[in-house]
Amino acid sequence: MLKSITLIAVSTVLLASFSSHAELSDKQAKNAVEFRKSIFQLVKSNVGPFGAMAKGKMPIDEALIEKNATRLHQLSLMIPDYFVADTRNNDVKTTALDTIWDNQGDFNQKAQNMTTKSKELLDAVKNNRSDEYVGKMRAIFGTCKACHDDYKAK
Ligand code: HEC
Repeated sequence: MLKSITLIAVSTVLLASFSSHAELSDKQAKNAVEFRKSIFQLVKSNVGPFGAMAKGKMPIDEALIEKNATRLHQLSLMIPDYFVADTRNNDVKTTALDTIWDNQGDFNQKAQNMTTKSKELLDAVKNNRSDEYVGKMRAIFGTCKACHDDYKAK
């Protein structure tokens, strides 16, 4: 009797640890990586003109700033959701570091910083505070670097 209770307890523990490591199939993990990379490709596309405007290689275009800052704001809100899927134990091609899933609070805070900075640029352009545009664009780039430094492989 005692022996069978012990056996049940041991197998329950084994099952619990097994399921926490095998939540995603490789196919699911591959999709998750594809989705999160797609977000960053759109981020790259929308932040590109800000790099050019900040360097004076492109004239300041307020309509474009408003459109792209709105998109960056939206995209930044998706980052935490698309990193819920923990792909550490799957065979996937990714530059996302495993430490993301040990520090999800901090990772999400770094996404939130991108949300805040893109909103600040949006507010500046809506209020025609043109002297602030370049500084606020640089601040958005700062949020990319802060997260990549800690959570993305080079
Ligand atoms: C909260 C963290 C975080 C923020 C903020 C962030 N990134 Fe990333 N980024 C990542 C991680 C993690 C990856 C790796 C994704 C993967 O390979 O699965 C990545 C990947 C990328 C990629 C490569 C995508 C691919 O197809 O492999 C680009 C480009 C990129 N980021 C651009 C940016 C830019 C530009 C910004 C700022 C406007 C930014 N990121 C903000 C975490 C972040």
